[in-house]
Amino acid sequence: MPGEIEFYKKYANLYDLQWSEKDRFDDLGFWVKLAKRFGGPVLELACGTGRVTLPLARAGARITGLDSSGEMLAIFRKKLPKEKSEVRERVVLKRGDMRDFDLGERFGFAFVPFNSFLHLETVEDEERCIRAVHRNLKPNGVFVIDVFKPDFRKWPEKTLHMDLSREYPEAGIKITRLSSREYEHPKQQIHAHYYMDVISMEGKAKRHETGFTLRYIWDVNEMKAMLERCGFSLEKVYGDYKFGPFTPLSEKMIFVARKK
Ligand SMILES: C[S@@+](CC[C@H](N)C(=O)[O-])C[C@H]1O[C@@H](n2cnc3c(N)ncnc32)[C@H](O)[C@@H]1O
Repeated sequence: MPGEIEFYKKYANLYDLQWSEKDRFDDLGFWVKLAKRFGGPVLELACGTGRVTLPLARAGARITGLDSSGEMLAIFRKKLPKEKSEVRERVVLKRGDMRDFDLGERFGFAFVPFNSFLHLETVEDEERCIRAVHRNLKPNGVFVIDVFKPDFRKWPEKTLHMDLSREYPEAGIKITRLSSREYEHPKQQIHAHYYMDVISMEGKAKRHETGFTLRYIWDVNEMKAMLERCGFSLEKVYGDYKFGPFTPLSEKMIFVARKK
């Protein structure tokens, strides 16, 4: 399927262990507040295993999650029977490419959390995605894009970082993860490499080398112009999940755009 990324296909079963919500700054309260503010129905692009989708549905949002990875969605689907029936009924899952979709419904609020927009590796792909969102939004609907602002000093090129080393007794494994990055600045691309050792409790280890490419955004005006070309006006840029304004020192860029 177009838009599928090997990393999520092969390692979907390790995603929730590595990127569970307690590991990161809390974005869930932010998304719940925005869903209430902008109304529904809600569309989450690149919903993955439902880390954000499910809390929004529990908070009352009628939400569609779109993702290109069958493996990530399969894990999401397995979680649904554990939810109350009214929560389950609020969730619709669709497999598809965020660069080109028509869901047969008009949404009040669409968003793409946790840097997933950066998986679109070219300006052309980014614009295809923004135009697809535009087609699927109601008049005056809102689209929010949440990406990190790259910090090239903190992440020097070709330097290995140990970003995870943890035991997961519930899964009977330990994961050790090293990562490094290479930059291709003329294309605004980050080539991220991951070296993961998955170790059983008996000490048997399997080493996996994987990675993906991201196209970074670091200039608000670049995103503003792109959104405008695709029929949106940029209303706000937040720099964190507490609704603080974006400043040059912010680690996040959260763009709030309205369909013109
Ligand atoms: C970092 S995960 C985010 C999952 C979830 N939103 C979260 O916050 O935990 C990125 C997700 O983007 C999806 N993805 C990447 N490119 C995509 C595309 N072109 N269309 C749809 N989904 C895509 C991947 O399959 C993966 O599930």
